[in-house]
Amino acid sequence: MRRAFLLLIATVVWAGSAIAEPPAAGDPIVIKFSHVAAPQAHKSKGAERFKALAEQYTGGRVRIELYPNSQLYKDKEELEALQLGAVEMLAPSLSKFGPLGIKAFEVFDIPFLFRDTTELARITEGPIGKDILGQLEAKGIVGLGYWNNGFKILSANTPLKQPDDLLGLKVRIQSSRVIEDQMTALGALPQVLAFSEAYQALSSGVVDGTENPPANFYNQKMFEVQRYATMTNHGFLGYALIVNRDFWNGLPADIRAAIERAVREATPYANAEAAKENDEAMAEMLKTGKTAFHTPSPDELATWKAALMPVRARMAERVGADLVRRIEAELAGPAP
Ligand code: LMR
Repeated sequence: MRRAFLLLIATVVWAGSAIAEPPAAGDPIVIKFSHVAAPQAHKSKGAERFKALAEQYTGGRVRIELYPNSQLYKDKEELEALQLGAVEMLAPSLSKFGPLGIKAFEVFDIPFLFRDTTELARITEGPIGKDILGQLEAKGIVGLGYWNNGFKILSANTPLKQPDDLLGLKVRIQSSRVIEDQMTALGALPQVLAFSEAYQALSSGVVDGTENPPANFYNQKMFEVQRYATMTNHGFLGYALIVNRDFWNGLPADIRAAIERAVREATPYANAEAAKENDEAMAEMLKTGKTAFHTPSPDELATWKAALMPVRARMAERVGADLVRRIEAELAGPAP
C-alpha cells in the first residue's frame, strides 16, 4: 500500500518534471504549501500571512500556493510527498513525525509537561527547539519554525470525569507513540486515523472519543458528534513549518533569508490567532449546548495527572531522556 503510494507520487513527480517546461527567466519560484487544517482555521490564517509577507519580501520572485484541508495529501502522505518534492512546504502537527523516524518531536506530546504556551515558547524559540528541528535534515527536510495550536481536551459520548471513564473506549489519535501510550495508560484503545477521517469515524461510531484543542474540535464539527468533553488540557498540539531540503538549499541565499523573515514575522500572528480561535471556539460550542463541557476540580485534575505520570517516565526513553531533562531544567530555571 505504502509502496504503491510512493510509486504513484514518484511517477507524478517524474511525469510532472518531464512535461513541465523549465521555469523561464523571470517566472516566480512556486512554493506549494499543503496542510490539513480547515480554510477558516488559524493555521490557514497564519499561512495566508506568511504568503503575503514572503511574496512581499521577495519582491514577487516567489509565489506561495496554499492547499488547505487535506485537498492534496492526508497526514502521512503529505510528509512522503514533501520528501519526494511533490510539494515544497508543510505545517504538520509535531505529533506526526515519529513515523519519519524522528522521535524527539513526540516530546511535545508528553502529558502535563508544559503548563502554558509561555513555557512552550521557551523551548520552541530557544536552542532546544532548534536542535529538534535540526534532526529533520537527515530526512531531507529543513525546519523553519514552530506554530501553536493549543492544549487538548478529551471527548466521548459518555462523561469523562475520571481516567477510568475511558476504560475500553476506542479513541482516535494522531500517529504518536507517546499519545498511544497516554491513551493506553487511561485504559482506552487508541486508533491512529488521519485528521480528515476523524469526524466520519466519530459520527459513525468507528471510534468513541478523541482529543484535540477546542479550535480543531469546532472547525471539524467534532462537537456535533461528541456529547461530553473534559477540559483536561493534558497535552499540547503545535506545528512545525518545514520545507524540502534540496529545494531549500537550491534557493538563492537572499530568497531564503526573505522566507525566513516571513516565517519569523508570521509566527506571532499565527500564535495569536490560535489563542483567539481556541477561546472563540469554546464560546461557540458552549452556545450550541451539543457537548457538555466539564472543567475538572483540582482533585479531579490531580487524578488525571497521577494516571498519566508514568507515561512521562516510560516515554522519556523513547523521545530521549536527555531531551526531557533538558526541557525540565529549562522550565525550572529563571524566566528569560
Ligand atoms: C490532528 O490530526 O488532530 C491535528 O494534528 C490536525 C492539525 O493539523 O491541527
